[in-house]
Amino acid sequence: MVLIENLIKTYGEGQNKVEALKGIDLHIEKGEIFGIIGLSGAGKSSLVRCINLLEKPTSGSIKIDGLEIMNLSKKELRQERKKIGMVFQHFNLLMNSTIYENVAFPMKIDKKPKEYIKKRVEELLDLVGLLDKKDMYPSMLSGGQKQRVGIARAIANSPSIIVCDEATSALDPETTQSILNLLKDINKKLGITIIIITHEMDVVKQICNKVAILEKGKIAEYGLVSDIFINPKTDIAKSFFDSVDVKLENDIYQKALDGKGIVIKAIFIGEKSTAPYISRMISTYNVEVSILLGNIQHMDDNLVGTLVIKITGADEDIKKSIEYLKQNEVIVEEVSY
Ligand SMILES: Nc1ncnc2c1ncn2[C@@H]1O[C@H](COP(=O)(O)OP(=O)(O)OP(=O)(O)O)[C@@H](O)[C@H]1O
Ligand SMILES: [Mg+2]
Repeated sequence: MVLIENLIKTYGEGQNKVEALKGIDLHIEKGEIFGIIGLSGAGKSSLVRCINLLEKPTSGSIKIDGLEIMNLSKKELRQERKKIGMVFQHFNLLMNSTIYENVAFPMKIDKKPKEYIKKRVEELLDLVGLLDKKDMYPSMLSGGQKQRVGIARAIANSPSIIVCDEATSALDPETTQSILNLLKDINKKLGITIIIITHEMDVVKQICNKVAILEKGKIAEYGLVSDIFINPKTDIAKSFFDSVDVKLENDIYQKALDGKGIVIKAIFIGEKSTAPYISRMISTYNVEVSILLGNIQHMDDNLVGTLVIKITGADEDIKKSIEYLKQNEVIVEEVSY
């Protein structure tokens, strides 16, 4: 568990003073996959470096598994740091060492017995699906495979938390997917808390339970991914969700708005995403529906379906149709352009 209270981090002094974190409060529970998203310069890396104990916060409190880390000695900090595994954007592998040696490295530093290390490395490489590559060098692996090595290394010393700083930003979409699946798998199998720093909302939507949106050193919004998706309160949250949200091409918009009817966005959560509300609505209220856009996504272990539809018919029937959807807890927004 990570409990952060009123965390402030400033760099430099006088004219050069930069307030990177201006009072952050966060509560990350054990076993969560927690996303931290923000634009460049928002303070993501500063926050990560405070959480992984590489940077001393200016003030505030950080408790990791109940232990306040603000007053620890250097030696104690080194010990605590082992509880946190790091996964980096550019993998940070030892290029002149084999895959085996890369994964063994943190355990060697920790002075674990040789036999233990051998067994553990094989176990870890098996977990990330690279056992057959153990004698190869990083240059012989693809980006996704390198990141698998990075993940095996991060969990070598059995940390309670792993922090991924833009871990998939250098990978193509398919490889990103397989790495996210691996992280999800590790979270489930080993119960490790995962903190994901990213600027990509897609990553957050795919694997995070909760998300904090960081803006200019402050948390703009924070909560369940699906809650923020459905009801973003701040402009920054809206902009993050909009960028991956249903966007209609201009000409489709125009066509949809020609003539009568209204265009709505309907969001279906959980089982509702597969229930036939639209067809029932059509048959019950004698309206016509054209589907302009639709998708189904996973969000904090839920299915979330989004449909943009145009409903035509008598005004009264359209009204009743929308009422019907709302009564069934479908979230309805009128789309305007
Ligand atoms: N070591 C440092 N010395 C001085 N200023 C710093 C230092 N590290 C970060 N900053 C400043 O703190 C602010 C937050 O930077 P940070 O690197 O945490 O942002 P970020 O969200 O990680 O951005 P990016 O997405 O570009 O990596 C920026 O204004 C940055 O210039
Ligand atoms: Mg950064």
